[in-house]
Amino acid sequence: MQLERILHSQGFGSRKICRSLIRHGEVSVNGEVHDFPFTEFDTDNFTFTVRGEDWQFREKAYLMINKPAHYECSHKPQHHPSVFSLLPAPLLERGVQCVGRLDEDTTGLLLLSDDGQFIHRMSSPKWKAPKVYQVTAKHPLEEAQVQALLQGVQLLDEPAPVAALAAEVVSEHVLHLTLAEGKYHQVKRMLAAVSNRVEALKRIRIGNLDLPEDLAAGEWRWLDAEMLEAVLPVRQP
Ligand code: URA
Repeated sequence: MQLERILHSQGFGSRKICRSLIRHGEVSVNGEVHDFPFTEFDTDNFTFTVRGEDWQFREKAYLMINKPAHYECSHKPQHHPSVFSLLPAPLLERGVQCVGRLDEDTTGLLLLSDDGQFIHRMSSPKWKAPKVYQVTAKHPLEEAQVQALLQGVQLLDEPAPVAALAAEVVSEHVLHLTLAEGKYHQVKRMLAAVSNRVEALKRIRIGNLDLPEDLAAGEWRWLDAEMLEAVLPVRQP
């Protein structure tokens, strides 16, 4: 693929802007400046540098972010900054979207991608990637509450009771709750339905992918092939 096209596909702006970046000597490959926009490169494992920053060619972008509290999963945030403000410009330019949403006050593992099929599959009810939430409850967790969460609780505006796939009490106030679905405010509504209340909420796992301990709040990371495999949901019968 031509260098100009490569840059354009990776979110560095219009073809014209990419051509100009290249012509101005801002782009290098293997440490060598390439100022001819139409040189062909094999995009397999292709790495390049733009204004001193290293990039790898990726046909599609798959990434995770450790969402901090008080950020909104929206391009048009209303009260807080957008999670997209935590990403470099080329990722926004190539149209990266959140895979589902976390509430403004929820923290933890959030996936983003520009692969529409992937986003659709991760969000479709036909496919289920269980999600694990670390819930800090206002009141001490009681066995009866945990059993009710596992057996199913009736939420307002839902046709049928909603049950957790798993609920592991970690301490008096902390519960790891595994859900198959991602209904609006689901964890908060489920805890309210058993007369408790969510004080803090953090998503710690999607499918078989854990939020890495060394990914600080506000930091993002590319998903490698293994991580991508780990988040892919399985089709429900
Ligand atoms: N459940 C909630 O209540 N909020 C979230 O952000 C995610 C799941």
